[in-house]
Amino acid sequence: MRDDGWQVGTPEGLITVSDALAAALFAQPGSDVPMTSRHDLPIAAGIGLRSPHLAHVQAERPPVAWFEVHSENYFADGGPALAAIDRVRADYPLALHGVGLSLGSTDPLDRAHLDKLATLIARVEPALVSEHLCWSGVAGLHFNDLLPLPFTGEALAHVSSRIAEVQDYLGRQIAVENVSAYVAFDDSTMPEWEFVAAVVRRTGCKLLLDVNNVYVNAVNHGFDADGYLAAMPREAIAEIHLAGFDPTGPCLIDTHGARVAPEVWALYRRTIARIGPRPTLIEWDIDIPEFSVLEAEAAMAAAILADRDAVAA
Ligand SMILES: [Fe+2]
Repeated sequence: MRDDGWQVGTPEGLITVSDALAAALFAQPGSDVPMTSRHDLPIAAGIGLRSPHLAHVQAERPPVAWFEVHSENYFADGGPALAAIDRVRADYPLALHGVGLSLGSTDPLDRAHLDKLATLIARVEPALVSEHLCWSGVAGLHFNDLLPLPFTGEALAHVSSRIAEVQDYLGRQIAVENVSAYVAFDDSTMPEWEFVAAVVRRTGCKLLLDVNNVYVNAVNHGFDADGYLAAMPREAIAEIHLAGFDPTGPCLIDTHGARVAPEVWALYRRTIARIGPRPTLIEWDIDIPEFSVLEAEAAMAAAILADRDAVAA
């Protein structure tokens, strides 16, 4: 151990992490070292909880295995939203999913944002904290979008160091999510799947694998989705996202505004057959339907997870 942290061997060489992160990275169930959270996500289907359904969930306590919320929606110091999520958390495991950290940006990491995230983590004790492998602002401008990175060695080193910085700051692993993209960079020197896998290897972070995003990118950019998924480090996959896209334009648009497409269900089924069951979330962010529709989508995912359990048994 060095004065400023632990040295961890990775395929890219030694990296230095803090005591707290080292404890999280090396912790094993049953050991004396605490895990990253005292609650793990159930290996079951969860639902992305958005404000239109908060009151229903509090009142009815529907039989959903777990929920995920957008971290930034609960950054206020108080108020009804935070009180509502406290009550949800009392009844369900919870994951925090960030959309605003801009991990890939060349601006300095936003310490105020990180402080708010750390405060929320301490409050709700989430089973998982995740962010997107993307950038959403530069030079102080915020674009309110999840923008893709060029897949270069330089971008890999940059975003990996930022993820390590965030993990160090929070004292825990985070999961990073592959994003959908509608442009590709001429400068890219490796395919997306190599870039994503290398980020995980370099940083020791977890992977939030969005199977819908893989499908959307595979169609739009013309690669093999199964090949991409086979290249993912299965032991790092802590969560899977499923969502719906809009197929009516010249390319698929990842809207999170529709049911999961049959092709994505099929890809998800093959993924679970290959890697084993994982916590799986239904995301729906625009034109949000009745809660029963989300429950039906979650039931589809649960059936596939159960199928895999039956095969494995
Ligand atoms: Fe997602």
